[in-house]
Amino acid sequence: MVTFEDQKSQKFQKRERKPERFGVSLFPCHFSLQFETPRVSYSTEVGREISMASSSSSLSSHGYEIPWVEKFRPTKVKDIVGNADAVSRLQVIARDGNMPNLILAGPPGTGKTTSILALAHELLGPSYKEAVLELNASDDRGIDVVRNKIKMFAQKKVTLPAGRHKVIILDEADSMTSGAQQALRRTMEIYSNSTRFALACNTSSKIIEPIQSRCALVRFSRLSDDEILGRLKFVADSEKVPYVPEGLEAIIFTADGDMRQGLNNLQATYAGFRFVNQENVFKVCDQPHPLHVKNMVRNVIDGRFDDACSGLKQLYDLGYSPTDIITTLFRIIKNYDMAEYLKLEFMKETGFAHMRICDGVGSYLQLCGLLSKFSIACLTAKA
Ligand SMILES: Nc1ncnc2c1ncn2[C@@H]1O[C@H](COP(=O)(O)OP(=O)(O)OP(=O)(O)O)[C@@H](O)[C@H]1O
Ligand SMILES: [Mg+2]
Repeated sequence: MVTFEDQKSQKFQKRERKPERFGVSLFPCHFSLQFETPRVSYSTEVGREISMASSSSSLSSHGYEIPWVEKFRPTKVKDIVGNADAVSRLQVIARDGNMPNLILAGPPGTGKTTSILALAHELLGPSYKEAVLELNASDDRGIDVVRNKIKMFAQKKVTLPAGRHKVIILDEADSMTSGAQQALRRTMEIYSNSTRFALACNTSSKIIEPIQSRCALVRFSRLSDDEILGRLKFVADSEKVPYVPEGLEAIIFTADGDMRQGLNNLQATYAGFRFVNQENVFKVCDQPHPLHVKNMVRNVIDGRFDDACSGLKQLYDLGYSPTDIITTLFRIIKNYDMAEYLKLEFMKETGFAHMRICDGVGSYLQLCGLLSKFSIACLTAKA
C-alpha cells in the first residue's frame, strides 16, 4: 500500500533541484505576524517536538495519514474562517431555517463546500441522510439526472420540523451543462415548498441567469494571510508539527489565499521533512524561490539588467515554467516596496506578458522582454 507519506517522499526523490539557502527573512515588510512561541526555542525544541509528533493521532485505522484538509474540515458554520459576511449570513439561515436557494461562488479552497455541508448538517441534524442529496462534478449531472434523480428526490416525502426543507447540493455547479441547468429551472420552482437548492461554483457567470435570479448569491473571496496563518497554527499545534514562523510565512505565500493549498503544503512539508521552515516548504512546493525572484526585481530597479537576466536564466534552466515564474514575479511585485507609479507599471507589463504566455508564447525571450520593459519603465521614471 502506498501511503501519503510514501507518495510525498517519492516526489522529493524525483526532484533534483536544490533551492539555494537564503539566510534572511523572506517578507520583511509585508507580514507583521504575532507568533506566540518565541523563535529562540526552536533549535533546542525540535528533537523533543519531533518525538511528540510521532505520537500524534493522525493515522487512520488503515495506518496511513488522513489528509489534514479532511481531518480539520470545519463541521459548524461558525468555525469557518474568514469571509465574515458570508459566514454570518449562513449562520442566520442555520439558526432560523427557511433556507433560500443559494449559490456560493468564489475561488478554490475558501470553504464553499465546507459551508454548504456544515449548513445542511446544522439545519437537518439527524435527518441529514434522508433529506440531503449531494451531487458533485464526479457524478453524472446531465439532463437525464436532473429529470430523474433530482426530480425523484424533490418529490420524495420526508418528515422534517417546521422551517426545514430537503436540500439538494450541487457542488461544482459551473461544470453542469447549460441544458442540465435549463432543466433545473422549473424543478426549482415547482418543489420550492419542500426542497431547496444549494449550488457551489468557482465562477458564478457560468451559472445561467435564470438560475441566478432564483438564488441568493453568497460570494466567497480569497482568505487573508492572517486568517490562513491562524488556521495553520491551529492545525500545526494540534498535530504537534515543529515549525518556525518563516516556515508558516512561506506556506502562506505559496497558498495565495487558498486554505486547502495551505493545509496540504503544511502536511506535505511535515511528511517530507518533519520540520516546517522556509527551505523545506519551497522544496516541497517546488515554486521559484521568492527571494531569488525578489533579487531579480531589485537588480532591474538598480540598473543591473544583465544580473537580472542571468537570475532569470537560472530559474528557467532549473525547469520552472514561464507561468510559474511570472506568477511568483507578480506576487513579489505586488508587495515590493517601491514607488507606486512604478509598481503599477510593472504590474501592467507583467499582466500583458502573462496574457501572451497564456496564449502560448511562453519563451525565455518573452520573460527577458518583460525585464527590459521594467528597465525602460525605471529609466523613464528617472528621466
Ligand atoms: N474558510 C475556511 N475555514 C477553515 N477551513 C477551510 C476554509 N476553507 C477551506 N478550508 C479547508 O480546506 C478544505 C477544502 O475546502 P472546501 O472544500 O470547502 O473548498 P471549496 O471552496 O469548496 O473549494 P473548491 O472550489 O475547489 O471546491 C476544507 O476541508 C478545509 O479543511
Ligand atoms: Mg468545493
